[in-house]
Amino acid sequence: MAGLGHRVTCVDNDVAKVKALASGTPTIHERGLPEALSSALADRSISFTADAGAAAAQADIVFLCLPTPAGTNGHPDLTAVTSVAREIGPSLRPGAIVVNKSTMPIGGVAMIRELLDRTDVPIVSNPEFLREGTAIDDFLNPDRVVVGSTDPDAIDRVAALYSPLNAPIVRTDPASAETIKYVSNALLATKLSFANAVAAICEGVAADAHQVLHGVGLDHRIGPHFLTPGPGWGGSCFPKDTEALVAMASESGFDFALLRSAIASNDEQQTRVVDKIVAAADGSVDGKTIAVLGLAFKAGTDDTRESPALMVATALIGLGAKVQAFDPIAAVDLDGLALKPDPYGAAQGAAVIAVLTEWPDFASLDLVKLADAAASPTIVDTRAIIDRAAAHQAGFEIDTIGVSPPPAR
Ligand code: UGA
Repeated sequence: MAGLGHRVTCVDNDVAKVKALASGTPTIHERGLPEALSSALADRSISFTADAGAAAAQADIVFLCLPTPAGTNGHPDLTAVTSVAREIGPSLRPGAIVVNKSTMPIGGVAMIRELLDRTDVPIVSNPEFLREGTAIDDFLNPDRVVVGSTDPDAIDRVAALYSPLNAPIVRTDPASAETIKYVSNALLATKLSFANAVAAICEGVAADAHQVLHGVGLDHRIGPHFLTPGPGWGGSCFPKDTEALVAMASESGFDFALLRSAIASNDEQQTRVVDKIVAAADGSVDGKTIAVLGLAFKAGTDDTRESPALMVATALIGLGAKVQAFDPIAAVDLDGLALKPDPYGAAQGAAVIAVLTEWPDFASLDLVKLADAAASPTIVDTRAIIDRAAAHQAGFEIDTIGVSPPPAR
């Protein structure tokens, strides 16, 4: 927003975060963020504070970008939104606009209206569609900007913030805007569960899922994106948002069996990966060392929330394995998991090397060195990132998700 020419004040109640950001140090790994932050600080278009009331009192437009983590029974936990909306309500200027970017259950705008307790402040839903790791690119090149409100003037003012981006604007009512967000994530997650099911079928019929899905994705009605099989989808959004949509559907009288099934398939996918690793370890991982390459829920981020890699590692530890893990950026503190400074250290003495995050560096590993380090040259590649012919040449047996049969050693 600062890069688009707006003057931005960011508020957080985490004083350490405020300090770090004010001095130009991002607190998460995000491509392009250090540069964007320092350029905004240099031209004084961005500032940071922990004082929500003071910031709100000066703003024409206030964005609520608050965490709504998973709560109970599929419902997100709205504690942060509730307390911040109550806090800033009395401070807002008459005619200021409050824009909700937090992913809240449908009806969130109506709830915020009540919490703010201000009849002179229009509320707008403006959901975000940014992916971690490419958030800045996604912000600057949106497929669409969704703006939902009952107040047409407020819609125009919020849409105008994005005018330098020349993006299509979807002007709609609040509930439809909120639903667009949930349905987008749910459809993408379902597409991925479908792709992972195709991978399982392909393994059974000796087809190559990567070629199959490439062929399928060339149909413009389907599209090539979100068709790469993997260890299952994770992260801080898809799992929580799919559960929430199932719960909202159920409360409105519809059993969203299709989405429930996509979620169940995703759990099964993670179990399939564990089963593959156990099979690759000759039927048991108990007492064996397993190398895990990648802990982040996907490449490009240090985020391990709901990471399939972490879930697989945890399951292996539960089965008696000693896990040695390497991730270029992400770190976790988990009993039974030893973090290693490089992939070869992780592979040392391993019965199986499991590739769980698609870090590009894993495509250029020294496979001979990796095979030398391992106790048994066996790879389970859930991201299809290791060249199978090269792995074979280095003496590996490799099981790649969606590709069958694994070549013999
Ligand atoms: C997701 C959405 O893609 C964003 O549009 C949305 O704004 C965001 O959630 C949110 O609601 O805040 P993100 O959680 O960053 O973004 O992650 P994705 O890039 O969507 O990946 C989700 C999962 O699917 C990851 O575990 C990833 O490894 C997996 N995935 C993705 C695949 O297995 N294959 C693919 O082809 C793509």
